[in-house]
Amino acid sequence: MRATAKAHPNIALVKYWGKRDERLILPHQSSLSVTLGPLAVTTMVEFTTERGADEVRINGRTAAGAERERVVALLDVVRREAKKRLGRARMVSAGDFPAAAGLASSAAAFAALAVAARTAAGFARDTRAESILARRGSGSACRSVQGGFVRWNRGRRADGKDSFGEQVFGERHWPELRLLVGMVSREEKEVKSRDGMRATVETSPYYPAWAKDAEAEARRIVPFIKRRDLEAVGTIAEQNAWRMHATAFAAMPPLCYLKPQTLSVIEACRELRRRGTGAWFTLDAGPNPVLLTTAGDEATVARVLEQHGAAEVVSCRPGGDAELVPAP
Ligand code: PMV
Repeated sequence: MRATAKAHPNIALVKYWGKRDERLILPHQSSLSVTLGPLAVTTMVEFTTERGADEVRINGRTAAGAERERVVALLDVVRREAKKRLGRARMVSAGDFPAAAGLASSAAAFAALAVAARTAAGFARDTRAESILARRGSGSACRSVQGGFVRWNRGRRADGKDSFGEQVFGERHWPELRLLVGMVSREEKEVKSRDGMRATVETSPYYPAWAKDAEAEARRIVPFIKRRDLEAVGTIAEQNAWRMHATAFAAMPPLCYLKPQTLSVIEACRELRRRGTGAWFTLDAGPNPVLLTTAGDEATVARVLEQHGAAEVVSCRPGGDAELVPAP
């Protein structure tokens, strides 16, 4: 009744932005991401037969409030589905993210939690069921159960059984691809993704156009990834990031996640291309851009990020599947 799992975060090249079901976390559109190594979260879950409250420890401290509630809600789903009677759980989770990575750890955290909790409850490994469970913790987490390039198909069903992440290409498909996270701001973002996307769905007049376009882009990008065509993949990723942010700018009140330094990096990225270095940006719901490039240009791109205000640059590459590991 105990298992430990490790999972990597991911960065979306075609973003998920907006839910059609808030409780089950079902999106309006499909999205596509790269699972990122070497960053990882390791999570241990142990179910007991006792009654009582779950113990939730994250990065060395006892979790409280909404953070704890999200973990307990996911453990409750497992307790309901398990064949045997499961009591209170102990959950211990830790990430090896540099504090300055600027990437949300929640995707890796909920993917690792889903794999560990299902295994501890006696279920055999099943990436689809694990992805559906991870999605209940954080939407983007359903794309971190598998490695490489993963598409989250939006699905049509009301119960969410057809809304999960599916690997399109494995982690070894494009080994020279690099994703450099440029930490230009350490400020906690003012509006969390969850609230930002809800406000966008409810108030942005551009939302239906966003959802339609992103759905098409999550398919159109696949043959370019297959060919490892960085220019085509980068162009789609940049355009999709602009469109997500444009939809958010048009919300009421407007949502702007960009900082002046973010625009300075975006401008530098264009300048790099003018000089023949292949680099394209993407941007989640925060100010820190992630630059797509290849191993050969990594040092040049990292230097430019630093020159434009990145206090730290974290270099990632396609990472592997979430996996069971020995207890820490
Ligand atoms: O899964 P959440 O609630 O962390 O939302 C993720 C939203 C974006 O990072 C902006 C886009 C994405 O697809 O990861």
